Amino acid sequence: MRIGILGLGRIGAFHAATLSALPAVTSLVVADPVADAAGAAAERFGAEIAHSPGELLAAGVDAVVIAAATDAHPELVLAAVEAGVPVFCEKPVAPTMREGVRVLKAVRDSGVPVQIGHHRRFDAAFAAARAAVRGGELGTLHTVRATTLDPAPPPAAYIAASGGIFRDCSVHDFDSIRWVTGREVREVYAVGGNRGAACIRAAGDADTTGAVLTLDDGTIALVSNGRHNGRGYDVRLELHGFADSLAVGLEDRLPLRSAEPGTAFPAGRPHVFFLDRFAAAYRAELTAFTEVAAGSRPSPCTVEEALEAGWIAEACTLSLREHRPVTIEEVRHA
Ligand SMILES: NC(=O)c1ccc[n+]([C@@H]2O[C@H](COP(=O)([O-])OP(=O)(O)OC[C@H]3O[C@@H](n4cnc5c(N)ncnc54)[C@H](O)[C@@H]3O)[C@@H](O)[C@H]2O)c1
Repeated sequence: MRIGILGLGRIGAFHAATLSALPAVTSLVVADPVADAAGAAAERFGAEIAHSPGELLAAGVDAVVIAAATDAHPELVLAAVEAGVPVFCEKPVAPTMREGVRVLKAVRDSGVPVQIGHHRRFDAAFAAARAAVRGGELGTLHTVRATTLDPAPPPAAYIAASGGIFRDCSVHDFDSIRWVTGREVREVYAVGGNRGAACIRAAGDADTTGAVLTLDDGTIALVSNGRHNGRGYDVRLELHGFADSLAVGLEDRLPLRSAEPGTAFPAGRPHVFFLDRFAAAYRAELTAFTEVAAGSRPSPCTVEEALEAGWIAEACTLSLREHRPVTIEEVRHA
């Protein structure tokens, strides 16, 4: 399979490495407006270089992986489905829901398969948590706590194109909460702080957020996100039920120190960032995409599914701005 990659920044270069090692992938074509980014991938993986998205889509690719900056997602997804090329696009679908809905309509009309990059669906612990919750092992779920804390903020240009912390970062937690519990979010209340990188404040974004989500069965989910976590990359999902409790991320490399005297756990080297924490999940996710592109399985994360997490991010963005609870219905019909 010949795969095109649009965008060779942090995650695009990592996806290029992962794809080049998959048995189903025979060749890569890459494009990025930053010539050095495309050149480095070409040299490292023997990829061909295309000088524009149009040139890449015309280069006989069987599928395309979009890992460009978020604000470029809509135009690139639309160009690919118009060309009839199956798409993997990194989350989020678009920087705004208006554009996300436009992408959804075009994708539906095209009938071309599209997979959105919610890689936690391919992580062994998240999958085990889903099976436990759905299998009734925890009994009635009462509380979910989701955490994603980045060790350091991305560059200013990334922040400016990201759509804000809820759409960029918390959206992983929102998708995981829906995917693991099988429930929808009804209402949110979000708060945010800004005591870190000046570029985040300048972009009108927050560097630390908390959100209370009420799910449609009454379960309460508490979502914590931040851009400045000194000890490392901290991703957890804690699930508490009437019968039992379970945690994703409670392992040796959890970047947390115990204050309990005599307790050595967690003893491992803390996770540095998403690339080391989720390497296996990214591999499984892109393997699934080669199967989607080959027509042997449906998309495991459709645009529709990804937009559901997007509405939660939209509601949190509004809640933080207006300092009030916001229902999903309100933003969906705004
Ligand atoms: N699933 C995940 O864990 C995960 C992790 C990181 C980033 N992401 C997502 O991946 C995307 C990229 O993030 P990143 O951290 O690699 O950002 P980055 O800023 O490091 O890289 C983005 C790259 O896209 C290129 N680009 C911009 N417009 C383009 C276009 N029209 N065509 C081709 N290339 C274009 C830029 O030149 C840059 O090299 C974002 O949407 C982000 O939300 C997902």
